[in-house]
Amino acid sequence: MDLGRFPGVAVITGAGGHGIGAATAQAFAISGCTKIAITDINEAGLLETQESINRVHPGVRLFARAGDIADESFVESFMDNVLQEFGRIDYAVNCAGILSSPLRSTELSLEEFDRINQVNYRGCWLSSRAQLKRMIKQEPIHIVEQNPYKPASISNRPSERGAIVNVASQLGIVGRHAAPAYCASKSAVIGMTRCDAIDYSADGIRVNCICPGVIQTPMTTHSEEVKQRLQPAIEMAPMKRMGQPEEVADAILFLCSSQASFIQGHALVVDGGYVII
Ligand SMILES: NC(=O)c1ccc[n+]([C@@H]2O[C@H](COP(=O)([O-])OP(=O)(O)OC[C@H]3O[C@@H](n4cnc5c(N)ncnc54)[C@H](O)[C@@H]3O)[C@@H](O)[C@H]2O)c1
Repeated sequence: MDLGRFPGVAVITGAGGHGIGAATAQAFAISGCTKIAITDINEAGLLETQESINRVHPGVRLFARAGDIADESFVESFMDNVLQEFGRIDYAVNCAGILSSPLRSTELSLEEFDRINQVNYRGCWLSSRAQLKRMIKQEPIHIVEQNPYKPASISNRPSERGAIVNVASQLGIVGRHAAPAYCASKSAVIGMTRCDAIDYSADGIRVNCICPGVIQTPMTTHSEEVKQRLQPAIEMAPMKRMGQPEEVADAILFLCSSQASFIQGHALVVDGGYVII
């Protein structure tokens, strides 16, 4: 029998390197999940995540395959691989994403608009659609029976077929100067999450999303230009600091967990208070 709070199978996209997806894969391993599948377009980054989890958690079975999340055939075949390897998908975290160049709409090319939406919106939808297609066919997992800790507070939770967490952004909720394609791609993720939550509640699947603020990852620190561009947003938030990827990963794991069994279609903001002012 599997051990831990997460007795099922976790799938994480955008899990290469040192970002939120990699931290989420690590957090699943730390929390006792023993079947984890990861993907990323960056093969070297994916290998890095794989090696760091294998090193610290030898009991974890890890399946990793690189590919482009905007490519339907890759997404479908990756999810098939996960089923072949582990038999089911219980917790799916759709994290792959890219940042846009700082351009107002009149400066934005169609190519740049499409590039952002291909990954952030289309890639997220392709991933969650592929996960939903497979989740609706699997038997529900009974959380309490499968969880050796059996905390009293989850003794009356219903069985679930799966939980999906899409990674949106605080910029899916509020706007920012010169970021129309990025903001709209993340608002789209929030809208899609709500619709899927409505449509798949009856199947015992929960679909939520997470809206990070400025988080210290390669996306926000890879160049001086990006760091300077994001500095005003850090200063504007009441907590006046960057978040750490692990702080977002913990919120993602909560939404995947049985403790979140009545949370559906929610956009959980993890941003040091940025959107409240
Ligand atoms: N870091 C932040 O401040 C912040 C804030 C809000 C939202 N987010 C969102 O969080 C998610 C993770 O971002 P991060 O900060 O960890 O950045 P990151 O760049 O470290 O991670 C994103 C990962 O997605 C992968 N990726 C990019 N395009 C891909 C594609 N076509 N197919 C597969 N993988 C692809 C990258 O290789 C990378 O490993 C993104 O969706 C991002 O938009 C980040």
